[in-house]
Amino acid sequence: MGALLRLTLVGIILAFLGERAVRLSQRVNFTREIEPKELPNCHFLEGIETGSEDIEILPNGLAFISSGLKYPGMFSFAPDKPGEIFLLDLNEENLHPRSLRFSSGFDISTFSPHGISSYIDEKDDTVYLFVVNHPHFKTTIEIFKFDEEEENVLVHLKTIKHDLLPNVNDLVALGPDSFYATNDYFYHDFTMRHVERFLGFQWTNVVYYSTNEVREAAKGFDSANGIAMSTDRKYIYVADVLSHTITVLEKHQDWSLSPVKVVQLNTLVDNLFVDPNTGDIWIGGHPNGKKLFLYNSEDPPGSEVVRVQNIHSDNPIITAVYINNGSVIQGSSCAAVYNGKLLVGTVFHKALYCDLE
Ligand SMILES: *[C@@H]1O[C@H](CO)[C@@H](O)[C@H](O)[C@H]1NC(C)=O
Ligand SMILES: *[C@@H]1O[C@H](CO)[C@@H](O)[C@H](O)[C@H]1NC(C)=O
Repeated sequence: MGALLRLTLVGIILAFLGERAVRLSQRVNFTREIEPKELPNCHFLEGIETGSEDIEILPNGLAFISSGLKYPGMFSFAPDKPGEIFLLDLNEENLHPRSLRFSSGFDISTFSPHGISSYIDEKDDTVYLFVVNHPHFKTTIEIFKFDEEEENVLVHLKTIKHDLLPNVNDLVALGPDSFYATNDYFYHDFTMRHVERFLGFQWTNVVYYSTNEVREAAKGFDSANGIAMSTDRKYIYVADVLSHTITVLEKHQDWSLSPVKVVQLNTLVDNLFVDPNTGDIWIGGHPNGKKLFLYNSEDPPGSEVVRVQNIHSDNPIITAVYINNGSVIQGSSCAAVYNGKLLVGTVFHKALYCDLE
């Protein structure tokens, strides 16, 4: 190869890497400083100290919280402690989360719960809880039946593994054994994960799963994360954490999804919660991704809760409802509302609840 050609190639590669480095700093928002925004009457949920990554609230005010996620590259205060699912009755005056028991036969020693979702069977009011699990950093979907009468046991019904679901982040239940899941090809492979993250390849997708059929339903996300369904069940919302967006997808009869629009936010969008009364989307966001990915207890990651109203209109209203620099709560991954109260969950830290006004 001629010297000039070689020089040109090196130049092109350096320019490409330089451009990617600049984009990466935008994607994780390296430089973001925080203006705090407080809410009245904030308390921690007692007993939750090692994460509250996702929160699911049933119409009757019972909430499930996934806790103790172990995820490659993500900090944990208790890397050897099995994960838990907490139950919380939001109708109580003083909130007391209880760690749920599991039916015998389910291996809790490797339990590492991530996104969760519920489905209620209208025929008999059976509550199914779907949990993304990462035993040994792999991915399984665990389906439980929640039995309130049987002293709050999660009865394990089945474990789902599938080649199209190598690395699931979050899911939304569609029936007793069907769901959409956000999925990434490479998080478990250290090198490939960094290549993918650094270069910003759009390698994450949404997969439709049912017992009859499993297929990709949408693709082309930088890093698809939280997923939720609109109150009329016609649309699916997908959070893209590193592009700071929510994609609205229309759900079709055959379960395929077609993109409708993309809404830009100013935070790294983690999990999504749809308020069943208003249809508003509540987001747990990361103001500064660098502090989340490179944990330093002296300069911890902050937390940010954002509400999106009227996402289907031409002018959605985007409001940062709560912002904290990590002095109170670190690394918010989800937010959920019930009866004028806001719950804030985190990747590896505590859980907070506040009055909304
Ligand atoms: C990054 O943070 C700044 C505030 O420092 C904010 O204005 C900007 O919108 C953020 N960028 C993105 C892409 O989130
Ligand atoms: C974070 O906020 C608290 C209270 O608002 C403040 O006392 C502290 O100095 C802030 N920390 C940083 C690192 O900005």
